[in-house]
Amino acid sequence: MNKHLLKMADLSKEEIIDILNLADQLKYELAHGIKHHRLEGKTLGMIFQKASTRTRVSFETGMYQLGGQALFLSNRDLQIGRGEPVQDTARVLSRYLDGIMIRTFEQAEVEALATYGSIPIINGLTDYCHPCQVLADLMTIREYKGQFDGLKLTYIGDGNNMANSLIVGGLTVGMDVAIACPDTYRPDPTVLEFAAKYGDRFTLTNDPAKAAEDADVVYTDVWASMGQEGEAEQRRLAFTGFQVNDTVMGAAHKDAIVQHCLPAHRGEEITEEVFESHADEIFDEAENRLHAQKAVMVKLLG
Ligand code: CP
Ligand code: NVA
Repeated sequence: MNKHLLKMADLSKEEIIDILNLADQLKYELAHGIKHHRLEGKTLGMIFQKASTRTRVSFETGMYQLGGQALFLSNRDLQIGRGEPVQDTARVLSRYLDGIMIRTFEQAEVEALATYGSIPIINGLTDYCHPCQVLADLMTIREYKGQFDGLKLTYIGDGNNMANSLIVGGLTVGMDVAIACPDTYRPDPTVLEFAAKYGDRFTLTNDPAKAAEDADVVYTDVWASMGQEGEAEQRRLAFTGFQVNDTVMGAAHKDAIVQHCLPAHRGEEITEEVFESHADEIFDEAENRLHAQKAVMVKLLG
């Protein structure tokens, strides 16, 4: 396995399955009170340049459960916020820490940390991707559906970091992936290039009902991501019709599950009714951030 987790494409199918198997095991051990101090004495630094509820709390708690500790490093307090180059920050933090989780804007910043530092780097969300979220999503899908092969994953909404990572992760593990988004909000070109290799297992359309046909998993995310708050109104207009609602769910398989990375905006990308009737699946998904990330940390820092 790669030394870092910078994006989904860093992982092969076998490596993803390996992480998910370990995540299942850690989840079982936690539920049965079996101590798993696999990272005793280790410290994870967590750099946040954007807000977070799930990522921060699941990494911090996860590290504690593994016998290590996590340091919350806000951009507001670090010298990075005053202009210290990421190249220098990487080399300094590598002298103290055993790994770094970073949430930021530019994917290039995460890559620079990995290039200049000497410890494992974990991407906790950039504008380009969100691999930790997708590992938790895949874990949840496998819990509900028991397999990946032959399943159809449909994503409706913005062609953003979530769409990018779901396309790569979903196709890699063997699912068909369908994306419905407005023509002007498509996934990243590098991801579309990756998906093109999968032929008709990947479809991109601007018709949500068509994308949702026979879906086993229906996924959505906010219309305006962190950093895009100023475009919220313009995006609300552009995404009208790209909502996960009863019509979309009517096109999907009867037993389709709904996934949302959260936070959710009810009445925008998903209706209150669909959200609440699939809340168990969505909050299992949120819980699985903890287990999937603990598996990643054991693999990379262990
Ligand atoms: N899904 C997710 O990453 O949530 P947070 O922004 O709360 O970390
Ligand atoms: N696309 C969202 C995901 C939040 C977990 C964002 O980047 O804000």
